[in-house]
Amino acid sequence: MTHKRENWSSNFGFIMAAASSAIGLGNLWKFPYMTGMNGGAIFLIIYLVFIILLGIPILLSEMAIGRNTQLNPLGAYKKINKKWSFVGAIGILCSFIILSYYSVIGGWVIKYIVSFISGSKIKDSFTYFENFVSQPLEPILWHLLFMIITVSIVTFGISKGIERISKIFLPALLFLILIVAIKSLSLPNSNEGLKFFIVPNFKGINSFNDFLNICLHAMGQVFFSLSLGMGALITYGSYLSKDTNLKKSAIIIPLLDTLFAILAGLAILPAVFAFGYKPQSGPGLIFQVLPAVFNSMNFGIIFGFMFFLVVFFAAITSSISLLEVVASFCIDTFKWSRRKSTFLPAFIMFLIGTFASLSFGPLKNTTLLNMNVFDIATFLSDKILMPLGGLFMCLFVGYVWGIKNISNEITNNGKLSFRLEPVFSILIKYIAPALILIIFITTLF
Ligand code: PHE
Repeated sequence: MTHKRENWSSNFGFIMAAASSAIGLGNLWKFPYMTGMNGGAIFLIIYLVFIILLGIPILLSEMAIGRNTQLNPLGAYKKINKKWSFVGAIGILCSFIILSYYSVIGGWVIKYIVSFISGSKIKDSFTYFENFVSQPLEPILWHLLFMIITVSIVTFGISKGIERISKIFLPALLFLILIVAIKSLSLPNSNEGLKFFIVPNFKGINSFNDFLNICLHAMGQVFFSLSLGMGALITYGSYLSKDTNLKKSAIIIPLLDTLFAILAGLAILPAVFAFGYKPQSGPGLIFQVLPAVFNSMNFGIIFGFMFFLVVFFAAITSSISLLEVVASFCIDTFKWSRRKSTFLPAFIMFLIGTFASLSFGPLKNTTLLNMNVFDIATFLSDKILMPLGGLFMCLFVGYVWGIKNISNEITNNGKLSFRLEPVFSILIKYIAPALILIIFITTLF
C-alpha cells in the first residue's frame, strides 16, 4: 500500500516537473502567433497530428534514454554509443540559442507585470507594445533581469523547489486562461476568431509549397512546445527512478501541454478579431491583444497582473530547464563549478539575446537572407536543430540502441505491458524520420 502511494507520488512529481518545462512561452506566446501566421485551423490540425506521430514517440524515447543512462544528453549518447555523442552536442547548442531569445520574451513578460502593478490600464496596447520593444535599452534591461533570475535559481540548485511551486501555479494558470478565454469568446465579433481557429479554410493555401511551409512551422512548434530534440527530457529522465511508468508520462505530458496551447489560442485569437487586429502580426500578438482584453474587463488590472505573473512562472520553469541542460554539461565535461557552469554560458546567452532584442528596434532591418537576429535564432533552433536532434534520436533508438533495448526500459524490464510496441517501432524507425526528412528537404532546399 505505502509502496504504491510512493510510486504514484514520484510519478506525479516527475510529470509536474516535465510539464512545467514543457508548458511555457511556447504555449502562451508562441502557439497563438504561430497559429495566426499559418492559417489558423489548418495549422492546429497539422500540429495535433504531429503531436501524435512525432511528439509522443520522441518524448517517450528521450525519457527512456535519460532514465537508462542516468546522464546528461552528451554523456547519455556517449554511454550507449560513442559515435552518437554529436546528437547530445546538437542539443546543448540548441538550448544555448533558445535561452538567448527566450529570455528576451521573458523580459517582456516582467515589463508587463510591472506595468499592471503600477495600476494603470495599458491604453492603445498596440502602440504601447511597439514603443516598448523598439527602444534600444529598456527591453535589454528586462531581458537581463529575467536571465539573472534564471541563473540564480539554477546556481543555487533550488530548481527542485521552484518546480514544486508548479503544483500551485499550473492550476492557477489554467484558471486564469479559462477566464480570459471566456471573456474573449464573449466579445462582439469574436466568432470570426473562433472560426479562424477551429474551421479549416484552404483559401490562404495557394500552393503545395505553402502547405509544406505550414508543416515546417507546425513541426518546429511541436518540438519547441514539448521541449524535444535537445535533451531537456533526457536530463529530466535521468532523475527518474526505475519503477516509474514512462508510457503514462508520455501521454499525460503532451495532453497537458496541448490543453494549455489550445486554451491560449482560445483566449487570444477570438480577441484578435474582436479588436480588429491582424492574426499575422507575429511575436507581439499576445502583448498587443491581451491588454485590450483586460481593459474591457472588470478588475482588468488585477487580472492582467495575475495573468502575466503566472505566465512569468511558466516561463521561468522552462528557462531553468534550458539552462540546466547547458550547466550539467559544463559541470560533467569541463569539471567547472556549478556557479561557473551557469554564469559563463548565461553571460554569452545574454549577449546573443541582446542582439535578438535589438532586432525589434534599431536592428530591425539588419538582416541576413531576409531574417533579422531574432528570426535567425528561432529558425536555427525550431526549424533546424531541434528537428535534426529528433531525427538523429529516432535513428539512434531505431537502429543503434534498438527497439528491444528501449522496450525493456519502457516496460521496466518486462514488468509493464507495452501493447503498442509495434506501432511505436514503426513510428520511431520509419514514420517520424521520414516525416522530418521530407519536410526538411522540401522546405529548406
Ligand atoms: N517547451 C518550452 C515552452 O513551451 C520551451 C523549451 C524548449 C524548454 C526546449 C526547454 C527545452 O516554453
